[in-house]
Amino acid sequence: MVGSVSIRGAEFSERREATISRAFGNVLEIGAGRGANFDLLPAMVDWRGTEPDQRNIRRLEHRARRAGHFAPILNARAENLPVPDASVDTVLGTFVFCSVDDVAAVLHEVQRVLAPGGRLLLIDYVGAQPGTRARTVQRALTPWSVKFMRGCRLDRDIRDDLASSDFPLVSTNELQVRSWPLPDMPVLFFEGHKTTPS
Ligand SMILES: C[S@@+](CC[C@H](N)C(=O)[O-])C[C@H]1O[C@@H](n2cnc3c(N)ncnc32)[C@H](O)[C@@H]1O
Repeated sequence: MVGSVSIRGAEFSERREATISRAFGNVLEIGAGRGANFDLLPAMVDWRGTEPDQRNIRRLEHRARRAGHFAPILNARAENLPVPDASVDTVLGTFVFCSVDDVAAVLHEVQRVLAPGGRLLLIDYVGAQPGTRARTVQRALTPWSVKFMRGCRLDRDIRDDLASSDFPLVSTNELQVRSWPLPDMPVLFFEGHKTTPS
């Protein structure tokens, strides 16, 4: 469903915090970039991060240590996580599904590493409705965002991949984020759970 609620930067930050605060236990953050989420994670989580870009890894490691997380950063793409099956309580990904090479492969890999009852927490840009000004702007800006936003494709639509993935819907919320002078841009806040095998 397309959200029509338009929110400002402060509300966006609140939503981001509310989503990330749902992380629990042993957390694997995919495409952690330069570590934008440390201040929002609950205090008791055991965090590990993956990041394929060598330029980000040193900065991420430094920030992780300052936040009290000492596990080495995994230099890996989310399509192929060097993590055992069913070993993770929470997979967190913010603005990373817009950047990965193969969304379906990443969702499959997330299913593999999550323990039963584990959570996928995802925040990402999604493609605006065809025919809208937002869609035209996303299309026009995507070559720029790929270059300057670390590979992020603003016009990518991950809704179908999520709908056909094995994640039963727990919570999904799509909001239009004010991006003046650009049109409002849709951002998806998604929580999916790994089901317990019957
Ligand atoms: C737009 S940045 C977001 C960074 C961070 N998650 C945040 O919210 O600030 C996208 C990140 O995804 C990483 N990335 C690109 N391709 C990836 C892949 N196939 N698997 C995992 N991460 C990837 C990039 O190196 C970059 O750090």
